[in-house]
Amino acid sequence: MATFMFSIDRPTDLAVDVLVLPVFEGPEAGPGVKDVKGQDLLGLYEGAGLKGKRGEFLLVPNTGTDGLAAAAVLLLGVGAKGKANADACRRAAGRVARQLASRRSVATTLPQIVRAADGPAAVQATVEGLLLGSYRFDRYKSKADGRERQLGEVTLVGAGKTDAKAAKAAIARGQVIAESQAWARDLVNTPALDLPPAQLAREAQAMAKKVGLTCKVWSEAELAKGGFGGILGVGQGSTRPPRMIELRYGGGGKGAPIALTGKGIAFDSGGLSIKDAQGMEWMKSDMGGAASILATMRAIALLKPKVNVIAAIPTAENMPSGSAIRPGDVLHHRGGTTSEVLNTDAEGRLVLADALAYLTEQKPRVIIDTATLTGACMIALGTDLWGAMGNDRGLIRDVLAAGQAAGEPGWELPMYEPYRGLIDSDIADIKNIGKRYGGAITAAMFLREFVGDVPWVHLDIAGPAFADRGGDYWPKGATGSPTRALIAYVLSRA
Ligand code: BES
Ligand code: ZN
Ligand code: MN
Repeated sequence: MATFMFSIDRPTDLAVDVLVLPVFEGPEAGPGVKDVKGQDLLGLYEGAGLKGKRGEFLLVPNTGTDGLAAAAVLLLGVGAKGKANADACRRAAGRVARQLASRRSVATTLPQIVRAADGPAAVQATVEGLLLGSYRFDRYKSKADGRERQLGEVTLVGAGKTDAKAAKAAIARGQVIAESQAWARDLVNTPALDLPPAQLAREAQAMAKKVGLTCKVWSEAELAKGGFGGILGVGQGSTRPPRMIELRYGGGGKGAPIALTGKGIAFDSGGLSIKDAQGMEWMKSDMGGAASILATMRAIALLKPKVNVIAAIPTAENMPSGSAIRPGDVLHHRGGTTSEVLNTDAEGRLVLADALAYLTEQKPRVIIDTATLTGACMIALGTDLWGAMGNDRGLIRDVLAAGQAAGEPGWELPMYEPYRGLIDSDIADIKNIGKRYGGAITAAMFLREFVGDVPWVHLDIAGPAFADRGGDYWPKGATGSPTRALIAYVLSRA
């Protein structure tokens, strides 16, 4: 278990295994590099052909340099000086986190690359980068193979004028957020075989008990009694029945709660509108929205902001079978709206509809949903950005700002009204597919039918939830996004 400390000591005085010092693009010495007097560190870095681009590093053993207490210095490129911000800290730290994980003690001046006012944000981001960057999912590896490698003691070295109290709070926040996001990754990376809806609900219950959240798991019978026809319909093709996970956090007295929901499809085969093998390869990740909401609730319970939050997370498995729903079937959602299912692979909106209707009954101040909803959103925005669509400009702006601040950005797509007609149904209130083009928007318009006039925003995370290759602070697989964005939003409302 990694431990983090904050210090304003001179970095050269710290007797650690590795002292990580930033180098700006050029290369140009970052904070702490020039404190090492006995050796031309920047010259060595430049001599190795390195330019200071993000993640470019050089490990220099201390062979007896005067006044340097560390056993080695790791010079770490952080990119352009003019663009140095908290996200640059997160990404640079993430790049070397893996190799730092084998050291007992590490110190770094990385948070000093930002303006003093951004110091706490940089400290938090550095902690997140180190923890998320050393994340591995090795539960299913039969051999240990480096599993014991964990970050040891990490000292974050601030400038003399840094507010130590704010820095320590930032460390604690970074740890809670990174651990929560890592848990979201674990849930998403876990094979669907081992994580049916009932098991996801048990994981949620265990988490809730640990951190002190109220948790109610809705059984199939309770869902039937409550009129949750979307969740039940999607789930009825699987031998593993659906659930709804309800979590409550009370930190804000009598104030109206922030309501959250996330798509929790344990596995999306497409149902009778079945996907091909390639289309199913990653579909254990179709509960990424649910995982990010669970992780957000965990973090909120530990960070204790002065707000109320309620989450209702629908979870079902979308399978083809003799008991599965058929194209042409009509489902009765919570609240009475009916939907004609013309493609059983557009299942996410069917389960979310019930949860949104339920949350709307709770009279929340806003509703945010997050879902691996459409391939169309990935076509529109690529893999890195989530799409934001909603019925309230202010809410959309606030959620986009939270994503930007947390280093998990999204982009708005338009709710272009003429497209609403594409989901008109001949026999029910609406149908669950539009035309091929604009699929992310018609999916959002389907969801909008269930939120009444509550301010609501939908985050389509089909792109950023799962990565087909490793990045700055994530290995291939689940990213746990947009957990940090959601936490940042909730904290910004406290
Ligand atoms: N879970 C998928 C969306 C998805 C696709 C997420 C690829 C991540 C990667 C969703 O349930 C789905 O199948 N959507 C269909 C909707 C269509 C049938 C209207 C899609 O995007 O093709
Ligand atoms: Zn799906
Ligand atoms: Mn689907």
